[in-house]
Parts: sequence; structure tokens; C-alpha cells
Amino acid sequence: MLRFDDRVAIVTGAGHGLGRSHALLLAERGAKVVVNDLGGALDGTGASAGPAAEVAELINKNGGQAIANTGNVATPEGARDIVNAAVDAFGKVDIVINNAGILRDKSFGKMTVEEFDAVMAVHVRGSFLVSLAAYPIMKAAGYGRVVNTSSPAGLFGNFGQANYSTAKMGLVGLTKTLGIEGARSGIRANAIAPVAWTRMTESLLPAEFEAKFTPERVSALVAYLTHDSCEVSGEVFTVGAGRVARVFVAEGPGWKTDDITPEAIADNWESIMAEQPYVLSAGDSMKAML
Ligand code: NAI
Repeated sequence: MLRFDDRVAIVTGAGHGLGRSHALLLAERGAKVVVNDLGGALDGTGASAGPAAEVAELINKNGGQAIANTGNVATPEGARDIVNAAVDAFGKVDIVINNAGILRDKSFGKMTVEEFDAVMAVHVRGSFLVSLAAYPIMKAAGYGRVVNTSSPAGLFGNFGQANYSTAKMGLVGLTKTLGIEGARSGIRANAIAPVAWTRMTESLLPAEFEAKFTPERVSALVAYLTHDSCEVSGEVFTVGAGRVARVFVAEGPGWKTDDITPEAIADNWESIMAEQPYVLSAGDSMKAML
């Protein structure tokens, strides 16, 4: 059994849905958990101490160890408050699960700057800020596990979600670079792109998905990725309804010439679009250009 005894985990947005489920699972397996949640509505407006308090209370009632925190992940002060709460209560931070999220869906032409910025702030800035506040602690300890929450909507695009898709693909870049930079300090970072029945999706998914797409079926992967034994870093996985799959950014074999013109590109479009054999790194991409 993968246990988390003596590990301290921060789970952002853990008052509802996926974050709640991640917090309960890690706590059940021995982790000390900071249950963070601002407690606002799905669009990020409002705030309430209730959701974080309820989840922390449930964990403590079940014999686990948790504290509630209402810091706003989107502000540097809020992010520092979350990390300070972990250190004050439990002495360290080993695991950061960046899960807090909001929605402000609108078709592209109707999206306002405020709707774009609000979504970027919680997902991208929030994941950056909480990880940044925890980074010196994890670096000094030579140990850290970070999970960022991307989305199939970001990886593949989705109608009405230009802000959300941009943010969720942005988290893939953050995850990959944190994975590279954290490697020498024992810090591993991965991203999940989940599908689960929560307040965020209950009006979008068919009713029969509720029993199949449970948050618990996503949390199993989060537990694996945040465990001591997990060696992968910089990876992205779709997860839902009991299925887990690696998602990778790949570059096809391409087409190359010494005399590149717009017409030559048009004539060789099929080769340019080919997928196999592919390369998986910026280094291999550069080699293929030389
Ligand atoms: P949810 O709405 O149940 O949970 C999100 C939580 O984040 C809420 O409890 C909310 O209060 C909290 N939150 C929002 N802004 C915050 C802030 N600034 N600071 C602290 N907490 C804040 O939704 P769900 O579905 O559990 O979403 C969790 C994550 O998973 C989100 O990042 C979401 O974008 C992502 N996701 C969910 C999918 C799904 O199928 N449910 C699909 C793909 C991604």
C-alpha cells in the first residue's frame, strides 16, 4: 500500500470536488494535509470559510490530521499564507497539489479581458505562486512532489473556453520546466488532465456519468504521482472513469530542404503533417534541423 506517513501535503481548492477527494485520500493514507479553499462560487466570486473547514473537520474526525486554510491562490499573499500554514502546523511541505480552479466560459468573440484574466489568475498564477512559495522549503529538503491540474480542454481545445484552455495548456509548460529545474533537488512535477463529476461539470456531462466519473478515480493517480516511489517528472496524464493515459507533446519527422519557399511548403504539406517517427524533446527537434 502506498502510504504518506510523515508527509505534509497542500491541496488547493480542496473544499469541493476533486481537491476534496485528493485531500481525503492522502489523509487516509497518513499525510498531514492543508485543506485550502477560498470557498467562492464556480466563477470565482465570493468567499466562505465553510468548505475548507468542513473537509478538514471530516479528516480529523476520521482520525487523520488536517487544517483548513482560506488563502487565495491567485495572490502572492494568499499563496504565502497557505505555505506558512503548512509550516506552522506541520513543520514542512512535501507535496503541493495545485487544484483550485474557476470557470468563466464565453465564446471567443464575446470574452472580456476580465474573464480572461480571472481564469489565468487562479489556474496559472495560482499554481505558480503556491509552488513558488513552497519551492525553497522543498529544495532545502531535497524532496518535493508537485501535481498541477490541466484539462483535456487545454490539451485539445474546447468551444467557449479560450481563457480556460490557455490557462490549462500553460500549466503543461509550467509542469515541464519545474520538472527540469526541480530534478537536481528531488522535486518531481507532473500534470493531470482529469474528467470527473463535480459542480464544475455536473451541468455539462450526461447524468449517467456521475457513477463512473467519480473524483476518487482521479485521486488514485494523484496519490501515485505524489508518492515517494514515483519517479516520473514533467509528464501529463489524462485520467477519468478508471482510465489513465500519458499525453505527450511530440514533433513529427518533418520535411527539410535547402531551398525553402512558400510554394515548396505547399507542395510538401503531407510530409510536414506526418506524425511518425516523432521526437519528444527540444534537443532532438534542434538536431533534426541541423
Ligand atoms: P470545483 O469547483 O468542485 O473545485 C474547485 C475548487 O477550487 C472550489 O472548491 C473553489 O472554491 C476552489 N477555488 C477556486 N478559486 C480559488 C482560489 N482563488 N483560491 C483557493 N481556492 C479556490 O471543481 P473541480 O471539478 O473539483 O475542479 C478541480 C480542478 O480540476 C480545477 O482546476 C478544474 O479546472 C480541473 N478540472 C476539472 C475537470 C472535471 O471534469 N471536473 C476537468 C478538467 C479539469
